[in-house]
Parts: sequence; structure tokens; C-alpha cells
Amino acid sequence: MKTIIELITEEIAGAFAEAGYDKEYGRVTLSNRPDLCEYQCNGAMAGAKTYKKAPIMIAADVAAKLSDSRCFEEVSAVNPGFINLKLKKEFVAQYLNQMAEDERLGLEEVQGPQMIVMDYGGPNVAKPLHVGHLRSAIIGESIKRIARRMGHQVLGDIHLGDWGYQMGLIITELRIRKPELPYFDEDYKGEYPKEAPFTIGELEEIYPTASGKAKEDDGYRQEALQATCLLQNGHRGYRAVWNHIMNVSVSDLKKNYERLNVHFDLWKGEADAQAYIPDMIEWMKKDGYAHIDEGALVIDVQKETDTKDIPPCMIQKSDGASLYGTTDLATLIQREEDYKPDRIIYIADKRQDLHFLQVFRAAKKTGIVPDGTELRFLGFGTMNGRDGKPFKTREGGVMRLENLIGEIEEEMYKKIAENRTVEEEEAKETAKIVGMSAIKYGDLSNQASKDYVFDVDRFTSFEGNTGPYILYTIVRIKSILNKYQAEGRTAEGSRIESAHNDSEKALMLEALKYNEVTEAAFNELAPHKICAFIYDLANTFNRFYHETKILSEEDEAKQRSYIALLVLTKRILEACIDMLGFEAPERM
Ligand code: ARG
Repeated sequence: MKTIIELITEEIAGAFAEAGYDKEYGRVTLSNRPDLCEYQCNGAMAGAKTYKKAPIMIAADVAAKLSDSRCFEEVSAVNPGFINLKLKKEFVAQYLNQMAEDERLGLEEVQGPQMIVMDYGGPNVAKPLHVGHLRSAIIGESIKRIARRMGHQVLGDIHLGDWGYQMGLIITELRIRKPELPYFDEDYKGEYPKEAPFTIGELEEIYPTASGKAKEDDGYRQEALQATCLLQNGHRGYRAVWNHIMNVSVSDLKKNYERLNVHFDLWKGEADAQAYIPDMIEWMKKDGYAHIDEGALVIDVQKETDTKDIPPCMIQKSDGASLYGTTDLATLIQREEDYKPDRIIYIADKRQDLHFLQVFRAAKKTGIVPDGTELRFLGFGTMNGRDGKPFKTREGGVMRLENLIGEIEEEMYKKIAENRTVEEEEAKETAKIVGMSAIKYGDLSNQASKDYVFDVDRFTSFEGNTGPYILYTIVRIKSILNKYQAEGRTAEGSRIESAHNDSEKALMLEALKYNEVTEAAFNELAPHKICAFIYDLANTFNRFYHETKILSEEDEAKQRSYIALLVLTKRILEACIDMLGFEAPERM
């Protein structure tokens, strides 16, 4: 289905043409004076110069052609030359009925779907997940879902940080604690044990201990670096330890992400890219893309048009070690071979901006990625505490994901228990579902690139621009529909009639923006647009609800129409929260 803006733009453009003006001037936007009109067209002002005519005259000419338009109830030319528009109630109702009949709610399937790889999450194996990884997971999951709903083919790749120094640290500490293990016996030729020599609990303790020791003790640090290097060069025993670390951590990560309702199609990581590196470095040198600069192998990525210095992309250190950029380039080779993506979207902290700029340029310059493939970095800001500084625990440490989720759930449970009408079990379940909305909506309602304040009190509130408020609205609609049906009636087959009052029309005008908002959210990779939309939709719904008798309405046809509008509103809200990555409970 075309969006409403497209439909009315066509109508206005037709009127411009009919009145003898270029139809290009017929563009329509949402009104920025909602008190005066619903939509507006500023084309008459834009055309004044071309036609050497007062804008108000052009506007009047156009308005005259629209006197019996199927779309507009009111078209007025207003000084200095605005065309103010109000939609016909019948037209709006008809549009909403078409949405209701469509399983996609009027969102057109994209023409020429793209193959998109989403690189998000990016946790570092064996290190605790922190709030930065929380943002990446939440934003990435949402964009993936939006893209899928648009009809694109999307693969979500977690891109584990599984090949770094933390692995050397763990190996070193393990060797000190359990030197008798076969992994550390250089002469050992047999098979290694299937059972990991540690649990996830131990692993979580080993890493910070080792990391602390390495900071104090340079000998220890050197050992860990050496172990990292041996692992990366294929040391058999270390590789076996690495496999254990991976198995134990990945199953734990899966649990964590599951709880966040975040799902990856690919569990690849930096380690998977290693096989591509030696060849890549070889041909980059041979074909002259890479050269030695102060001992390191680099690719120049500066462009003439740059206004500031862009340092070269480093792909090998003087000691032969590869770097973050090397791995990302090699991963691009692998992605190209395996999926031929049209687009790759990376979601990481915005401080990695320069890194991605260098990698993208190097990838294009060397032809690893074809010209037509879009590489896009979406950098997010910092999640701050109420003190305006990066979010910490009460003790001052980096907040662990589980604790954060736990804290929100507890807060939610308290609130739900306060006005509780449900059993404890259900209240706990509900607290989980609503808590997830508090965290995710709290994050996604901000433009991703901005820093935001993680405010537990505000995020868990049932009032204001919050996840719980949106869920509360959905639950309210569900409850009305349940009561309606409990009386033996069904919403099935009901059609939406022309609005009966102002608040109903306002709700309708919001609801019909669904397809347009979804498209914009995808085009701009901006889940916050969906949040803003459902907040408006929830507000207009609640106003309508407060001003209208629904269940006690005596006019049956009118009531059926209300119910049909409620069903549609609920479907839209549910589609939207699904794109944001959370869901609504039955009651709360
Ligand atoms: N592991 C990285 C970090 O914790 C994020 C990875 C982002 N993706 C990438 N392809 N570089 O910062």
C-alpha cells in the first residue's frame, strides 16, 4: 500500500499540474501547525519565483482544483501561500480498513530485497558483558527486525571478540593453577579431555584475576602475551584450552542473549577470520596496496577531499601480529565469499568511528568489498548513570548485564505488586516482560548516537515516554477486547467507520502513519522513530479511551467500528514493539 503522504502528494501534484504548474511543487508534509490542519503543502511558495506570481494566488489556484477531492475535507490557501489540508473522514477510514485487511498492515514489501549482514553484539568471550554490549545488542536486534519486516534478507552476526589477549591471560593463569593439565605438557600427543577444566563461574573469576595480575607484574604480562601469540600460531594444547573457553562461554552468552530476546543467526568471531589473513597480507603487499611505515604494514586511506588527517589502516605490527583492523578486513573477505551481502551494518560504540572509516576505505580500495556494497557504521553513545558519568554499579564497578536486568525486574516487580490483582508467580513473569520493555525502550527511544541517562525510576514508570506505558496501553486494549468478546461478541469482520468524534479522528490519523514510520526507521536506521510514533499513538489512543464510551456504547454499529479500530491499533502497537525487540503481557 502506498503511504498516506504518497497518496495525498499524488493528489496535490495532480492539482498543481491541472492548474498549470509543475507537479513537482505538490509535495506534502505533516502539518507543523496541528491546530490548523493535518497536512500541508508549501509548494506555492517554492513556485512563486518561477511563475512570477504571488504564492497565495498559486495556492488558491491549486485549492480550487481540489474542491471535490476524494482525500480532503478541507483545502485552504492561507497567507503567505500555504496550502492547509484536512483529510476526509471517509478517506481515512477506508485507508485504515485496507491496512486492517493486510497482514503487513499496509507496509509494502520492499522492491529488490537486499542481503544485509548485521554485525552487532560483539561481546568479548570470557570477559563479562557490559552495558556497551547491551546497547549494541538492543539497537542491532531492533534494526535487524525492522529490516526483516521491510522484506530484506538479514543475517545477524554476533562477531565475538574471541581471539585476543584475554585468551592468553586465561591460559597463563590456568597454567599456574593447574600445571599438571595435559594442555601444558609440550610432549603430550594424546587426545585432550572433552570436559573443560573450569566452569563458567571459575572462568569469570579467572579473567579478572589474571588481568589484575598482568597489570601489576610485567613478567606475568609477557607470559600472557606469549601465550596469546602461541595460541594464534596454532599451539595444539592452547587451542584445546581455547575450545573449552569458547564452549563454556558461548553457552553462557546464549543464555544471556536469550534473556534479552536477542537472537543471532551466526555465531562467528574474530577467530574465524584468521584463516584468511596470511593470503590477504600476501596479495596486499604484492599488489602494492600495503606498504611498510615505521616498521608496520599499513594501507593508506587518506583522500584528497579530507579536511582532516585520516591515519593509515594498520594491518600488521612490526612483530608480525595482526590487529583489530586486520581481523575486520579478513572478516569482510569471508562475508563476501559466503554471503555476497549488498550491505553490512556494524553497531558499536561511536568511539570506534575512525576504526571503521579506515577499515571501510581499505576494503573498498583493495577491492575486498565491491563498489556497490554499502558498508555502514552506526555508532552509539554512552549509557550514563544519573550522575552523568558512564554507568557503574553502586560499588563503582562496571555493571554486569545480569545485575542490571535483575535490578530492573525487581523494581518492576515492586510496582506491579503494589497494585497487584494477580498471583505472585504471574507478577514475577510479568515483571520480566515489562522490565525488558523498560530497558529496551529506555535505550531505543533515544537517537542511537546520543549519550543517554539510564534512569531506573523513569524507565520503569507506567507514565510518560516509557516501555511500561506502551505495554500498559496494549494491555488496556486487550482487556477491552476480552470484555467485549466475553459477552459473546466477536470483533471479526467489523469495519472501521468514519470517525465519530475528534479524539477518534486523531487516533486514526496517528494509526495510518505506520508504514511511513517503519520505512523511515529503516532508511535512517532509527528505531527511535518507531518509539516516538508508538508514544504518540498510545497517547492518542488513551485520550480517545478517556473521552469515549466503548463497552457501554448502545449503538451497535458504532461500537463494532470502535472495536475494529482497537484491534487495528493493537496490531500496530504489537508490530512496533516486536520491531523494538520486546512483547506485551496478557495483563499487568
Ligand atoms: N568486540 C568489540 C568490542 O567489544 C566490538 C566488535 C564490533 N564489530 C566489529 N566487526 N569490529 O568493542
